[in-house]
Amino acid sequence: MSSNKDKIDKERLPVHIAIIMDGNGRWAKEKGEARVFGHKNGVESVRAVTEAAAGLGVKYLTLYAFSTENWGRPAEEVDALMDLLVDAIEKETPTLQKNNIRLLTIGDINRLPEKTRKKLLDCTEQTAGNTGLSLVLALSYSSRWEIRNATQKIAADVKEGKINPGDITDELISSYMTTRSIPDPDLLIRTSGEIRISNFLLWQIAYCELYFTHTHWPDFREEEFFNAILSFQSRDRRFGK
Ligand code: FPP
Repeated sequence: MSSNKDKIDKERLPVHIAIIMDGNGRWAKEKGEARVFGHKNGVESVRAVTEAAAGLGVKYLTLYAFSTENWGRPAEEVDALMDLLVDAIEKETPTLQKNNIRLLTIGDINRLPEKTRKKLLDCTEQTAGNTGLSLVLALSYSSRWEIRNATQKIAADVKEGKINPGDITDELISSYMTTRSIPDPDLLIRTSGEIRISNFLLWQIAYCELYFTHTHWPDFREEEFFNAILSFQSRDRRFGK
């Protein structure tokens, strides 16, 4: 069977792809199952898309796995998501190593349960030397949280005389974000039909191409991912010029 993968121009890949993984709950409901069933199948999509990104040679893949607002979900669902995360990291660390994938996190990870935070930090440390794909998990992340933090730190540094107000450039602001070591996304994908950004990487997506699909996240696998990249490659990026 032919794949859209063959149509992708490997010389013009997006360097950084960010994804708002949405629709796990709706996918499960359509099947008459509990929401957690959707999240479990969502982990399979995480695996498939990560492999596809690494295989193509994409350098950064950021996944919105848990937002600051998601803490407001029922405790049962939050606990299940945290357990899924621990399980997935435990199971997948050897695969990350084998495929030269480095794990990074962005967000307020101090809010995560101890067990989850520890697994994440262990995996981050173990994979720190890998030079292929960087898989960035946004956890307890929201863009306004990040911008507020950055602003507080900049204000404190101005107050201490470390920087002058006139030194505050776009580059300086970027260097105070949790994404400081990561280039801005070129392509942002959101699944499941919602056409909004939901407090994700607001500063970083200034010139990003947006791609929305009705497919729920658990059904978003390699071919859908390749289609999103083909759409990106069909666009004329002018960066405001
Ligand atoms: C959105 O669907 C999905 C989430 C809030 C969680 C996504 C998390 C995973 C797929 C597991 C994370 C695992 C790894 C390894 C990163 P939703 O619950 O908002 O769906 P709905 O909008 O249909 O209710």
